[in-house]
Amino acid sequence: MAYGTATVRKVTPGCGAEVLGVDLRNPSNSDMETIRAAYRDYGVIFFRDQKLTPEEHISFAQRWGEIDINKFFPANGQYPEIAEVRKEKEQKVNIGGGWHTDHSYDQEPAMGSVLVARELPEAGGDTLFADMYKAYDALSDGLKDTLSTMKAVHSNEAAFGAKGFYKSSDQGGGFKGESLVGQAIHPVVITHPLSGRKALYVNPGFTTHFVGWSMEESKALLDYLHAHATQPQFTCRFEWHDGSIAFWDNRATWHFAVNDYHGEKRLMHRITIGGGPLQ
Ligand code: SIN
Repeated sequence: MAYGTATVRKVTPGCGAEVLGVDLRNPSNSDMETIRAAYRDYGVIFFRDQKLTPEEHISFAQRWGEIDINKFFPANGQYPEIAEVRKEKEQKVNIGGGWHTDHSYDQEPAMGSVLVARELPEAGGDTLFADMYKAYDALSDGLKDTLSTMKAVHSNEAAFGAKGFYKSSDQGGGFKGESLVGQAIHPVVITHPLSGRKALYVNPGFTTHFVGWSMEESKALLDYLHAHATQPQFTCRFEWHDGSIAFWDNRATWHFAVNDYHGEKRLMHRITIGGGPLQ
């Protein structure tokens, strides 16, 4: 499919698209229109063979909104806007190694994240994505109706708290902001602010329970929704190479960084772009 001079190619029928023929250092207006349309339509878009410096990475992200400086992740010393998704060859735990969407615990969840590959293992370290429009569309009318009035609590305490997953792991030294953990309540089904389409908005990383439901009751339905949403037909797998970039919409997709490269280093630069309240 072509929107402007650049072309857009689906990665799988269910998830993601690659934008070809653009240089993100200096995209033309028509390229930007293509990228905006692909981002809106596919929720996660990929670029190859890019040569962005950290400054150009920041400039590209600023085209979309204000940068949301990460309170928890290790920062790049020189560029506070850039969070480092790093795993050294001695470390066992990676960052983002389970299905989640970024910042759902914020009152105004982040719009999107731009992830640039900086150092890659010889093989592995792919990222999986899942499309929450497709997952929502495939639910029965009965379950859609039930979910339509429900709200869920999202918390980052189990991930980033003082006794949370990362602090208790071999990533702990780099993590910060334990006292800044918090939670937010969002509708279980959102109307996406860019596309106007309905998307499922819970995720295994941060959704703890449904408002008005017990933890046990919530777990049963959340487990069902999580298993439903990660079926292969709603997902794609992105293999990173030098120059690869993924740009995902946190309101329309989930992602999962595969931790299958022990003994090798992987370093990614992530910039997260601020969003707004969800309806
Ligand atoms: C993340 O969860 O933001 C990191 C994804 C990745 O490193 O592939």
